[in-house]
Amino acid sequence: MFPEDPKAAGQHHRSDLEPGDHKKSSSNTCRKLPVYFLTLFVVLCIGLLVFGIVVRPKAPSFQMAEVSVKSLNYSSDSTGGGGGPSSASLNATLVARITVSNPNFGRFEGDNATVRVVYSGALVLGEKKVGPVRVWSRGSKRLEVAISVGASVRVVNGSEVGVNGNFTRDVRLGLVRLIGQGRLSGMVYLMGSGVKRRKTEEMNCEMKLNLTSRLVQDLVCG
Ligand SMILES: *[C@@H]1O[C@H](CO)[C@@H](O)[C@H](O)[C@H]1NC(C)=O
Ligand SMILES: *[C@@H]1O[C@H](CO)[C@@H](O)[C@H](O)[C@H]1NC(C)=O
Ligand SMILES: *[C@@H]1O[C@H](CO)[C@@H](O)[C@H](O)[C@H]1NC(C)=O
Ligand SMILES: *[C@@H]1O[C@H](CO)[C@@H](O)[C@H](O)[C@H]1NC(C)=O
Ligand SMILES: *[C@@H]1O[C@H](CO)[C@@H](O)[C@H](O)[C@H]1NC(C)=O
Ligand SMILES: *[C@@H]1O[C@H](CO)[C@@H](O)[C@H](O)[C@H]1NC(C)=O
Repeated sequence: MFPEDPKAAGQHHRSDLEPGDHKKSSSNTCRKLPVYFLTLFVVLCIGLLVFGIVVRPKAPSFQMAEVSVKSLNYSSDSTGGGGGPSSASLNATLVARITVSNPNFGRFEGDNATVRVVYSGALVLGEKKVGPVRVWSRGSKRLEVAISVGASVRVVNGSEVGVNGNFTRDVRLGLVRLIGQGRLSGMVYLMGSGVKRRKTEEMNCEMKLNLTSRLVQDLVCG
């Protein structure tokens, strides 16, 4: 009410000239109320916008932290032409420790995801469903997933059937390059605001399965 006073005083001066001014002055205060609400609304909107930019929802990280070998069988024969194997077979159960880390101030509700182990991009050796996963604000969650992987590959006329790589040679040499893939999609619910956003993260982890030591080595997630 205090800032009103000078204006009200000014109108009193003019009220000498116009007799109907007293009524106008009181209705002025009433007309200002929507202006205050509008200003408050705009300030709130700007606040929310700044909040949204500063605390932008981010995708959680979705990676394999460690992979161990639970069981492993493999074979390769060397009766193929050129001294190389004519076929190779590999069966294993890999146990992957997967971490989902949520960098947001607010919980993440992930959908079900599928984690795959592939050889050379195209040959899917095995897959497993994980989730649904919920990770609290700025927390992380560990999942342990056992994935059965296996493939039998034949060599016909010097090239492997259905594989874009050197599977038979890799099995023979005892070191098989594998890729762990997956896609995790879910909702980030920012704390204190009604903001929710869908965020998706891809897993892409390269590793080498050493058949003689029965260990997964050189695990690198990109
Ligand atoms: C792997 O499993 C397949 C089918 O389950 C089987 O045909 C193959 O002989 C197995 N290979 C080894 C080395 O155990
Ligand atoms: C490996 O072979 C053994 C015996 O043949 C079998 O009991 C086991 O289930 C096999 N493991 C895998 C992962 O295929
Ligand atoms: C996710 O998987 C669980 C079981 O693990 C199942 O009950 C649920 O229906 C699945 N949700 C979706 C959206 O597929
Ligand atoms: C393998 O090569 C021979 C001769 O080069 C050809 O006759 C035969 O069709 C080939 N087989 C396949 C499966 O490509
Ligand atoms: C397979 O091995 C051969 C011989 O070392 C190489 O020339 C070729 O590029 C390899 N293929 C793949 C897909 O790695
Ligand atoms: C695989 O493991 C064996 C036994 O531990 C080791 O001698 C070999 O160097 C390993 N292979 C590679 C490529 O690291």
